[in-house]
Amino acid sequence: MPSAASVLGLRVSLLQSGMGGVAGSELACAVSNAGAAGCVGGYKLAGSALSAILARLVSGTDRPVGVNLIPEVVGPDELDRQVAQVLDETPHRVHLSFFGMPDDAVFDRVTAAGRQLVVQVGSVPDGVHAADRGAVVVAQGIEAGGHLLGTQRRDDLVGALRALLPDACLVASGGIGSPEEAARALAAGADGVLLGTAFVVAHQARAHARFKSAVTAADQADTVISDVYEIGWPGRRHRVLATAVTADPSLPAKFIGKTVVEGKPYLVPRFSAAVPTDATSGRIEEMALYCGQSCGEITEEAPAADIVAAFARVLPGPETVKSNERPEHHVH
Ligand SMILES: Cc1cc2nc3c(=O)[nH]c(=O)nc-3n(C[C@H](O)[C@H](O)[C@H](O)COP(=O)(O)O)c2cc1C
Repeated sequence: MPSAASVLGLRVSLLQSGMGGVAGSELACAVSNAGAAGCVGGYKLAGSALSAILARLVSGTDRPVGVNLIPEVVGPDELDRQVAQVLDETPHRVHLSFFGMPDDAVFDRVTAAGRQLVVQVGSVPDGVHAADRGAVVVAQGIEAGGHLLGTQRRDDLVGALRALLPDACLVASGGIGSPEEAARALAAGADGVLLGTAFVVAHQARAHARFKSAVTAADQADTVISDVYEIGWPGRRHRVLATAVTADPSLPAKFIGKTVVEGKPYLVPRFSAAVPTDATSGRIEEMALYCGQSCGEITEEAPAADIVAAFARVLPGPETVKSNERPEHHVH
């Protein structure tokens, strides 16, 4: 079980989730510069909009950093174009991170390019498949904020995967808001942790100010699993802060705000899957406020480097890797 730090070339086995809209290059670079793995949310970005964020990412850090893509949102053809663009426009230290399983051809293409691959899964079969194809496996439990890949609790899934995959690099995700909770995930068998909600409140995150303050004020009973925020990403349940919209999905589907993504203006319909960012205006409190059960332990906004430092004290670094556990032995 190699530490995530040794596989990805980090100082600490901590991954920041690439969160569409929230995790731009400022957050990703700040996290990577602090020694963890930052990641930008690629989500639906393509062409010049994706190029712009990749250029800022590469110029903002010379440390390992990631780009997150979501196969089921864009479909196989658009995913192929996004992957090709990331491989063409970034150096080797930039890894690819996927939410959910891509096709086997995508695994092959990324590993053939010599890039590290991180895949977030919610089930044992997907975790085994991703590990067999050389990925760092992120095991997401139902405590997680955002879209949910499975139905198991984090440490049950981590433990089940560890039993089957003694040598894989396994990262736990979902409900981790404190170093103590991170230590519990390590005890369940993880080699590192991935945090989403904890970085929503980072100073460098692009979450709307009212979204950040709602997260710091919330405890885990304020989150619900719902399927109402489906415009743009249908058919998957998500954990969000309870809102008037989760309470009453029969509200009319009309526009409730405006936003700007990489310079282009968009209207935001009620039930949109898009999170409110610092470029969004309108009825923020009715929008998709993705939030994990981790929020109970997240009580203040902070610079990204402080968040990394707080977790670093319980997480493995690369020095904990023994000589017979070098990363190349785990890339198939
Ligand atoms: C605001 C927000 C947006 C998210 N967007 C993405 C995304 O675009 N891609 C992705 O892989 N995961 C995304 N996630 C899910 C995370 O990868 C991860 O599963 C989750 O944050 C872990 O639980 P935690 O929030 O309690 O740390 C998002 C999570 C949040 C809170």
